Amino acid sequence: MLVFLFGIKRAILKTILIIGASRGLGLEFVRQYRHDGWEVIATHRRAVDGKKLAALGAETMVLDTTDLKSIAAFATAIKPRSLNVAIYNAGVFGPRESVAAAPALEAFDEVMHANVFGAMQLIPQIAPRLIKNKGVFAFVSSRMGSIAGMTSANGVTYRASKAALNAVVKAASLEYGPKGISALVMHPGWVQTDMGGKEADITPEISITGMRQVIAAAGEHAATHNGGFFDYAGEKIAW
Ligand SMILES: NC(=O)c1ccc[n+]([C@@H]2O[C@H](COP(=O)([O-])OP(=O)(O)OC[C@H]3O[C@@H](n4cnc5c(N)ncnc54)[C@H](OP(=O)(O)O)[C@@H]3O)[C@@H](O)[C@H]2O)c1
Repeated sequence: MLVFLFGIKRAILKTILIIGASRGLGLEFVRQYRHDGWEVIATHRRAVDGKKLAALGAETMVLDTTDLKSIAAFATAIKPRSLNVAIYNAGVFGPRESVAAAPALEAFDEVMHANVFGAMQLIPQIAPRLIKNKGVFAFVSSRMGSIAGMTSANGVTYRASKAALNAVVKAASLEYGPKGISALVMHPGWVQTDMGGKEADITPEISITGMRQVIAAAGEHAATHNGGFFDYAGEKIAW
């Protein structure tokens, strides 16, 4: 009987992987999905963040998306798992200067590696884990990565990194869409986190509530959402 009930529980539980869950938007994703009873796998870099995430009921894995050894260890750990949703949320803003100031090599590399290289390393490891469930692979990008919508030259390294991430996700939608996955890019709004600052427009609660609705819609309507760029309110953003 117990085995039977456990079987039912496993069948009903949905599993989500959240990459970059230590604070800000990632941490709020963990809170809300746990609150709704999801099985959450949350990645972090520091041990102290692992304890915080475990206290929320998440299963934790260590992952630095810029470190090949860390990525390899994570890939081994995630390989046997089946996922319904994966979110690549890890991101770095880097230099705030406009295109009038050339970026330092180290700062450029840090942003590009965290925002683009990490996503490109992890797509081949994670996408196969979503196929069985026809899952959703969501990437937290930014409106600042929209070339069509660009109205300022500031933070150009970040803008370039998110535009590159958008291109990578579009490619993922073409590669994995025919296999049943819905891959999409989301803009969370301007949110009160370490990156967004206290003056930002909205709270993490509002942003994540909205992005979860976008993810749920992507799970139901792959045809309209695979390869799309949406804000947290579900509005389409021009590339
Ligand atoms: N806040 C906004 O207004 C806003 C607007 C548009 C887009 N976004 C995007 O939303 C996402 C989350 O931003 P946030 O506002 O929550 O920023 P945040 O408070 O600065 O948090 C950034 C998260 O990314 C993780 N991270 C950074 N580099 C990593 C790496 N190499 N490996 C693994 N994890 C890494 C951080 O982990 P550690 O704690 O270990 O550093 C942290 O969990 C980012 O992709 C960001 O670009 C935010």
